[in-house]
Amino acid sequence: MEKTNTLFYIVLIGTLFGMLQVSNATNHTPPIFIFGDSTADVGTNSFLPTSKIRADFPHNGIDFPHSKPTGRFSNGFNSADLLSKLMGHRRSPQPYLWFLKAGLTTRIFRGVNFASGASGLLDVTGKDLNIVSISEQIKQFETVCSILTYVKGRDAAMKILARSVIAISVGSNDIFGYFENQSTIEPLVFINSLITAYEGHINALYNLGARKFGIISVPPIGCCPSQRIHNSTGGCLEIENTFARAFHSSLDVLLKKLSFKLPDMKYALGNSYEMTINVIDHPQLFNFTSIDTACCGKGWLNAEKSCTPDANLCSNRDEYLFWDLFHPTQYAAELAATSLYNGGLQFVAPINFSQLAAC
Ligand SMILES: *[C@@H]1O[C@H](CO)[C@@H](O)[C@H](O)[C@H]1NC(C)=O
Ligand SMILES: *[C@@H]1O[C@H](CO)[C@@H](O)[C@H](O)[C@H]1NC(C)=O
Ligand SMILES: *[C@@H]1O[C@H](CO)[C@@H](O)[C@H](O)[C@H]1NC(C)=O
Ligand SMILES: *[C@@H]1O[C@H](CO)[C@@H](O)[C@H](O)[C@H]1NC(C)=O
Repeated sequence: MEKTNTLFYIVLIGTLFGMLQVSNATNHTPPIFIFGDSTADVGTNSFLPTSKIRADFPHNGIDFPHSKPTGRFSNGFNSADLLSKLMGHRRSPQPYLWFLKAGLTTRIFRGVNFASGASGLLDVTGKDLNIVSISEQIKQFETVCSILTYVKGRDAAMKILARSVIAISVGSNDIFGYFENQSTIEPLVFINSLITAYEGHINALYNLGARKFGIISVPPIGCCPSQRIHNSTGGCLEIENTFARAFHSSLDVLLKKLSFKLPDMKYALGNSYEMTINVIDHPQLFNFTSIDTACCGKGWLNAEKSCTPDANLCSNRDEYLFWDLFHPTQYAAELAATSLYNGGLQFVAPINFSQLAAC
């Protein structure tokens, strides 16, 4: 109880500061709340002293303003930033844990990023790596919703939440975990367990007032440099790509079902698989010279070691699809964000993120 009161006190003080803050987001810019894994993490894991999955050191961030390593698994901004920017924000909102440390001002009402590298749909994914699971991310969002309701009143809070875009990028780490663990669960049973978990998470968010879901599915993860080095030809690990495609199809069915069941639910499903394969198949269209080698790393395909201060670093970073053994470069993330926001039905359906933001 005491703790709750302190929290509200901080918020009320924050409200006064919040009023003085100049916002460059216009009234048309919907708030954005971001959930997921390292593809959307803008520094969450840097606030977790014992987290093993982090990027708060060089060469990460080399193309970020002042070459600052921010905890993003990228040379610069990531898709969460670029998508937020397209929606009218300056970049991704700060991590929830940043607000917790800096003070919960009313800025949290314009958006929060909860994404944490190595998390998955299942609570067991990343459990031993000291990260924030999706279930935990949703609990943190619940705290934001309580504060919103306390400050604005229930009706206004529900209106704000209904306008907000809920962006979620998750699933790859669960599939990596399946193969790392050499799981004997039937593939279809496993994919179904991921979809059931996703349904639970979307229901939980909906029950808190969320209505607009921008869902980003799993890319061809078998084509990450980290996986290619397990194929003697350096080609993609086909079985993992099969899982990614199955995940997308099942997710498509789930979202159709939920949008019939849940009044006023709207969604856009981004097909990361198609977007990425399109680039891998036609690299020259996007001026990529390397689609299989990490820009930053060590060993074969620069994928035997992660990106650290003593790793090899490429100089032509806009010509690489991959920044490190798992993650896209800023340029690749920009292409992805643009496809999600403005893309046609082959990349995002039944509407794109710009239509989702506006509806
Ligand atoms: C992998 O297996 C271990 C041991 O059975 C289990 O504790 C862990 O949760 C599993 N990880 C995933 C991601 O399934
Ligand atoms: C390895 O890559 C080749 C293409 O270079 C592909 O034909 C083959 O199926 C891949 N092997 C596995 C195990 O995925
Ligand atoms: C690729 O490079 C050419 C020549 O520099 C440029 O004209 C073109 O716009 C670039 N394409 C993309 C997709 O950036
Ligand atoms: C996607 O978004 C743009 C607006 O940014 C819109 O004009 C276009 O019609 C949409 N594309 C499709 C295929 O729905």
